[in-house]
Amino acid sequence: MLANQVGPPVRGLECFGRDQFINLVWEKLSLGHVLLTAPRRFGKTSIMYKLVDEPRWEYQVLIADLEYLREPTDLITLFTELLMRNPVTSRSLKGVSFLSGTLWSRFRESVAEVELYKLRFKLRDELRPHWRESGDELLHRLADCGHTIVFVLDEFPMMIDGMMRRDQGAEDARAILRWLRAVRQRPECQNIRFLLGGSVGIGAILRNLGEVSSINDFELLKLEPFTRPTALNFLAGLADGQQTTLSPACQRKMLDLVGLPIPYFLQVLFSEARKNHLQTGAPITPRLIEQVYHQRMLGVECKTYFDHYYGRIRDYYPRDLERAVKRMLREVAVTPEVSRDAFYQIYRKEAGLAATAEQFNDVAAELENDFYIRPSTDGKHYTFACKILRDWWLRYYGMEYGE
Ligand SMILES: Nc1ncnc2c1ncn2[C@@H]1O[C@H](COP(=O)(O)OP(=O)(O)OP(=O)(O)O)[C@@H](O)[C@H]1O
Ligand SMILES: [Mg+2]
Repeated sequence: MLANQVGPPVRGLECFGRDQFINLVWEKLSLGHVLLTAPRRFGKTSIMYKLVDEPRWEYQVLIADLEYLREPTDLITLFTELLMRNPVTSRSLKGVSFLSGTLWSRFRESVAEVELYKLRFKLRDELRPHWRESGDELLHRLADCGHTIVFVLDEFPMMIDGMMRRDQGAEDARAILRWLRAVRQRPECQNIRFLLGGSVGIGAILRNLGEVSSINDFELLKLEPFTRPTALNFLAGLADGQQTTLSPACQRKMLDLVGLPIPYFLQVLFSEARKNHLQTGAPITPRLIEQVYHQRMLGVECKTYFDHYYGRIRDYYPRDLERAVKRMLREVAVTPEVSRDAFYQIYRKEAGLAATAEQFNDVAAELENDFYIRPSTDGKHYTFACKILRDWWLRYYGMEYGE
């Protein structure tokens, strides 16, 4: 019975249609490290939980969200905590120099968040002067634990970006990337794996830092939208799980409206159609779905579901490019297809004549990675990557920066 869950990661059987991808992730993890990439809301965190909830072989999978970590010490503290809270790995940490016997026992016993918070604080102070050595010691301890340890680190790019925004944070960001790379290369750490992922692309962040090669030993796995047949099965499953009638024609209508079958948008549209049905008693028909799509899904009630696509341009693109990028996106939303050259001219006009073709290529690549735009197969034109995002962009930002 599929639940209609809009927002938080889905777990267990609620995580639909990703079995083949999960198999691939496991295969790659058995060989090395994995960088899981996908645009926002494709279901990355749900995949990560699937690895934790259904581990394979003797692997110990430890997951954490790094979004708010800002110092290398924070990461080593987190690793310690993760390892301490796992009954298998905590045994290997007995006698570690920076964990007194008392601290070790308290970590193992403590479950209350407030108590953990205090322990974390104390540990961080202890670790700060020598986080590298402590990190090394910690991971060396795992060499003989008889298990492969997988660190699943969600929002890793956000951590690096957050570090870089602090005074002298770029040095910290470089230091932690280099330390992690050194760990991955040590023979005694061959039973340690990393899976990194996050809701912002890591490419531009590493490029800004001049550290593009720091993760070139990771296998890149890109999570795609559902295929059309999977999406139809998914909608049928959602309807079944909610005891709602959704004819094949309605399912097709939903897919046509959303465009690329991104599970999140299907969840939202189904939820909105069903709410309307429950509130008004009107049966769900293709016509009703069309209404719901235009009036509710693209309406102000659902605006928060999409706002981050706009907000992240301010947050993750260089300030001086914000206007250029928004202008480019407006153009590609208004015109079904924009030639690469026209795109470049818009960019030059907004970013100033000093803007180079190379910078333009970077920005275009970033917009593509972040799933705003898609190049045609011959690379000569761009379109908006996804119909629903284009519809949304047109509605709220189609008028911006008019001619
Ligand atoms: N496999 C799936 N089956 C059903 N629904 C899914 C699936 N994957 C994602 N979803 C839908 O997408 C929403 C977001 O999922 P999730 O948090 O895993 O995505 P994400 O890629 O980590 O998002 P973000 O980029 O914001 O971190 C879920 O609440 C759910 O509605
Ligand atoms: Mg996520």
